[in-house]
Amino acid sequence: MRAVIAGTGGYLPERSISNDELAAWKGLETSDAWIVERTGIRRRHIAAEGETASDMGAKAALAALAQAGASAEEVDAVIVATATPDSAFPSTAARIQGKLGILRGFAFDISAACTGFVYALGVADAMIRCGQARGVLVVGTEVFSRILDWSDRATCVLFGDGAGAVFLRALPEARAEGRGVLSTHLHADGRYGDILTVDGGAGSTGTCGVVRMAGREVFKHAVTKLASAVDEALAAHGLAKEQVAWLVPHQANIRIIEAMGRKLGLPMSRVVVTVDRHANTSAASIPLALAEATRDGRISHGDLVLMEGIGGGLTWGAALARF
Ligand code: ACO
Repeated sequence: MRAVIAGTGGYLPERSISNDELAAWKGLETSDAWIVERTGIRRRHIAAEGETASDMGAKAALAALAQAGASAEEVDAVIVATATPDSAFPSTAARIQGKLGILRGFAFDISAACTGFVYALGVADAMIRCGQARGVLVVGTEVFSRILDWSDRATCVLFGDGAGAVFLRALPEARAEGRGVLSTHLHADGRYGDILTVDGGAGSTGTCGVVRMAGREVFKHAVTKLASAVDEALAAHGLAKEQVAWLVPHQANIRIIEAMGRKLGLPMSRVVVTVDRHANTSAASIPLALAEATRDGRISHGDLVLMEGIGGGLTWGAALARF
């Protein structure tokens, strides 16, 4: 059994603000030039007051179902990757299930920060392969604007809000055709938890806390760990890097993305980039980029797509899928 990405969807809050607008709004001592040079970020979307991860995730999920031509009855499971859930419980996944009127199956959240979508894809793929589910909604949705220290210019300029989703469908014939999710490669090393963390939580401080990051340390880990995850994914299938049609990386920083493109020998025209317009939307960034590139026709039937990401935990991973 293979899990095929039958539909993709994305949702971005209406409000989009430039670096200059952000600096003026929050009174930050920064500049568009500094942010663009270090990160490639020019704009980000910010959720409206009261707009939550489940609101945005439900919209992205609906779009993915519509593109797949799937109804609510086809959904056996909703798996949501988020670091900014509406509440500790119910899970954001259960809330999305309810909002979409899905009356069967099961729903749960995954916590792996910016690697959350790759983790959720891995869990969904495993469930489909072993026959536990036939149709799975995998959603990444984040409102990082609610967990930022807006006086810390080194972190608050980096993130944005949004949601992305894919609908995975079990398709037995996909195996013979070489289509579907080929594999996922998941990693964590908790020794480095402190270099990218949220400094509070329901079970510790009783508040949700804000993002703290040792930027340079994270950067160093990102380049080496993502490179090894990418090698691992290709080696698992005896694939050469030339066979990759599209790289859809986690969108944290254009310099990390370009380094991965160079490693694979891919021109930037074969790398899907949204970080300039979305900033880092954590677990939402890969499915948002996938939605953009499948809907505008860049990624098409038969294309081999490599996804990779790294985030708090540290967690990191890669996934290969043929569309
Ligand atoms: N505007 C202007 N100056 C700033 C800003 C800002 N927004 N932020 C920091 N600075 C200043 C610092 O105060 C420091 O000043 P000082 O030298 O007077 O002390 C100077 O710029 C350099 O600071 P660094 O933190 O060393 O800057 P660096 O060149 O490392 O860039 C950055 C910071 C962009 C965060 C970089 O380290 C990076 O990209 N790291 C990767 C981390 C990342 O992408 N994280 C996202 C979440 S994790 C993930 O998704 C992978």
